[in-house]
Amino acid sequence: MRYVQLDTPKPISKIGLGTWQFGSKEWGYGPDYERRAAEIVRRALDLGVTLFDTAELYGFGRSERILGSALGGDRSKVVVASKIFPLLPVAPVVQQRAVASAARLGVDGIDLYQVHQANPVVADTTTMRGMRSLQDVGLVGEVGVSNYGLRRWRFAEAALGRRVLSNQVRYSMIDRGPEEDLIPYAEQAGRIVIAYSPLAQGFLSGRYDATNPPAGAVRRANPYFLPENLERGTALIATLREVADAHDATPSQIALAYVLRHPNVVAIPGASGVEQMERNAAAAEIDLTDDEYAALVAAARAFRPVTGLAAVPRMVRARLGR
Ligand SMILES: NC(=O)c1ccc[n+]([C@@H]2O[C@H](COP(=O)([O-])OP(=O)(O)OC[C@H]3O[C@@H](n4cnc5c(N)ncnc54)[C@H](OP(=O)(O)O)[C@@H]3O)[C@@H](O)[C@H]2O)c1
Repeated sequence: MRYVQLDTPKPISKIGLGTWQFGSKEWGYGPDYERRAAEIVRRALDLGVTLFDTAELYGFGRSERILGSALGGDRSKVVVASKIFPLLPVAPVVQQRAVASAARLGVDGIDLYQVHQANPVVADTTTMRGMRSLQDVGLVGEVGVSNYGLRRWRFAEAALGRRVLSNQVRYSMIDRGPEEDLIPYAEQAGRIVIAYSPLAQGFLSGRYDATNPPAGAVRRANPYFLPENLERGTALIATLREVADAHDATPSQIALAYVLRHPNVVAIPGASGVEQMERNAAAAEIDLTDDEYAALVAAARAFRPVTGLAAVPRMVRARLGR
């Protein structure tokens, strides 16, 4: 495993584990998944993974409970990251919700406490006042944000009066927005971009095609899995396979290596089984050559999925099986 070269109280692994899937029916993994989830966590620990990401929203607290219980006595050795869903995130609410998350996780302190998304009405000034007091009493280690633009990330830092260590955003080969400003800022200021959906929810694994889309409500709502987009992704997946073959790796591993190439980026893929966790952890060791990287960039740029409003009627038709 590789770790981010930054001054943090505990090392942060380049590959972390995302746990939205834990306790969340909408991924469609069935009742047996809770047991597998615990196995995934234990295997991740064996492999040197130190970053475990959850949120109070995932499974309405179930993800935090499953993660905390699977970590057991190892909780204090790793970076446990959770998120507050910012419904009225004024200081006293932030404080209460952190206490509740810590209790579900079974920890004395949350190593990284993130604001799940920017609140359009409540300013970060009041939210960060709550965060600062949590840090002062030791219930929170580092503060992070999620789905923040650069301007608001920096505003949050000014409001906290300390570093906001990380910004957790959607970042993958086919969602490259963070490369414009967030990643350069992280590199220049010594911050971290945490890449969520780094496999585009499995689209980049090459496992799915127009005749074989994934199950579950989460991915039914993701336009990348429209038959038309799966079809359009064929050339991109072929390029991923080509690069993967040269490394004796899989397309997913190459997709992860693509985002990890930036020193201040870590990725938190979710996993449906232990073997995926193992492969994802191993991806941290893959170094892409400049030519391979350029080929991936070109293939990703050439992929033009139907998204946004144009995707809506197609998603309805796909849902109705027409
Ligand atoms: N802050 C936010 O707003 C936000 C939003 C979304 C997610 N997140 C966080 O980011 C984490 C990851 O994002 P995500 O779950 O949306 O997407 P992801 O990590 O891109 O995709 C995860 C899915 O990809 C498949 N997969 C994983 N490893 C694989 C491998 N080695 N080979 C083949 N397939 C593999 C699995 O599904 P199948 O096996 O079923 O195909 C798995 O459930 C979440 O768990 C959550 O912690 C945060």
